[in-house]
Amino acid sequence: MMNNILLISGSPRANSNSKRVIAYLKQQLEASGADCHVFDLREDLLPLYLNEGSQYEDVNVSKLVQLVEQADGYMVCTPEYHGAMSGALKNALDFLNSKNFNGKPCGIAATAGGGKGGINALNNLRTVMRSLYVNVVPMQVIADPHIFNDEGQIIDERVKTNLSLLSDSLLDSVKRLKS
Ligand SMILES: Cc1cc2nc3c(=O)[nH]c(=O)nc-3n(C[C@H](O)[C@H](O)[C@H](O)COP(=O)(O)O)c2cc1C
Repeated sequence: MMNNILLISGSPRANSNSKRVIAYLKQQLEASGADCHVFDLREDLLPLYLNEGSQYEDVNVSKLVQLVEQADGYMVCTPEYHGAMSGALKNALDFLNSKNFNGKPCGIAATAGGGKGGINALNNLRTVMRSLYVNVVPMQVIADPHIFNDEGQIIDERVKTNLSLLSDSLLDSVKRLKS
C-alpha cells in the first residue's frame, strides 16, 4: 500500500524558500512512490488558536486535523524566526494533539537567513514535536538563501543530497513502523 505523507511549510510568505524546500521534498517522496499532500499555511489560512472547541468547525482547521490523522508520516520545513520556528507553524501545531499524530514519523528542515541560523528553529521544532509524541527522524537539513538561484531552484548539490537522504529516512521510518 502507498505511503501517505503530509508536507507542511511553516512560511505563509508568497515566494517562500521553505515552500521551495517542501516542493523539492515532495518530488523526492513521490519519486520513491509516496502519495503526498501539502497543507499550505497561506491558502488554508488558520485562525489564531483560542483554545475553544468551536474553532474545530473552521473548514481549514478540520482539514488540517483530517490530513494529520490520515497521513502515515510528515515532512515539515520551518523558517527560523528570531531563533525559533515561525509563529504561523506553532499556531497550526497548537490546534493538534498527540492523538492526531499517533506517534507517526516526521522529517524536519529549516530555512534561515544565512548567518549560521536554522539550528535553533530545528531544535525548537524537535522539542515541540516531542511534546506531540511525534517521532522525528535524526536526519535534518538547513537551507540558506545561497542554495537557491534567482528562479528559486535549489542549486547546491550537497543540500539536494541531504534532502534526498531526509526523504529516504522518513520513508524508511514509515515502512518500519507499519511492518
Ligand atoms: C521576523 C523574522 C525573523 C528572522 N529571524 C531569523 C533568525 O533568527 N535566524 C535566521 O537565520 N534567519 C532569520 N530570519 C530569516 C529567515 O529565516 C529567512 O529569510 C527565511 O528564508 C524565511 O523563510 P521563507 O523564505 O520560507 O519565508 C528571520 C526573518 C524574519 C522575517
